[in-house]
Amino acid sequence: MNGHEVAQQRREGLRSRMMRALGPAGVFFKGFVEEPRMVGSVIPSSRFTIDAMLEPVDWQRCKLFVEYGPGVGTFCQPVLDRLPRARGEERGGEMLVIDTNPLFIDYLKRTISDSRFHAVLGSAENVEEIVRMIGHDKADYVLSGLPFSTLPEGVGPRIVEATSRIIRAGGAFMTYQFKAEARELTARFFPRVTTGFVWRNIPPCVLAWGWQDETTATTPAAVPAV
Ligand SMILES: C[S@@+](CC[C@H](N)C(=O)[O-])C[C@H]1O[C@@H](n2cnc3c(N)ncnc32)[C@H](O)[C@@H]1O
Repeated sequence: MNGHEVAQQRREGLRSRMMRALGPAGVFFKGFVEEPRMVGSVIPSSRFTIDAMLEPVDWQRCKLFVEYGPGVGTFCQPVLDRLPRARGEERGGEMLVIDTNPLFIDYLKRTISDSRFHAVLGSAENVEEIVRMIGHDKADYVLSGLPFSTLPEGVGPRIVEATSRIIRAGGAFMTYQFKAEARELTARFFPRVTTGFVWRNIPPCVLAWGWQDETTATTPAAVPAV
């Protein structure tokens, strides 16, 4: 090994020790440094965003909850905690997360050991085949942390269109974003959209729920800002 390679190896060692010491925040920051346009944010969402976003979900009817772009899993445990567990013959709720970044998918597989949890490396554009791959026909809710304003041209509309096909009647597509793009895209593909705003997030963010079926949805007309 030459001097350059030794220095390179030392830098790598130092970087992975720093990642371990920083925990999920370090893994998230590394993901951002490597893929800034795909990750779109330097820190994960706040617990206020999580609570406000999940508030309208009808958990008892939820068989499959999908999340796009989970990052280091800020929403994963809160979703798993709320999903109904299997009772007797009745199948409980499951969670599927899809992310294009192998760093995040590897991290989630290592840190979440729950038989109801599926972490898949792939693009949200392929949600329909991924949902079928894990044995479901439809999703009840799809949560997205995708940075729609910085995704490559055309990817956002393709994802939201595929999402509108995979969500069952009465289910919803849920987004939180610093800009209004996600809400506008949702309005193009879903018959009804409700919105909210969270101040206590860095930066503050716009929440939107695109409901698949107006008649069966049980949501408030608007969720108060928190
Ligand atoms: C802002 S981060 C989300 C962070 C996390 N959900 C949170 O609330 O803290 C955006 C995530 O979207 C992922 N991503 C970007 N494009 C994607 C795509 N086409 N399909 C699935 N995931 C994607 C990135 O790898 C990254 O993990």
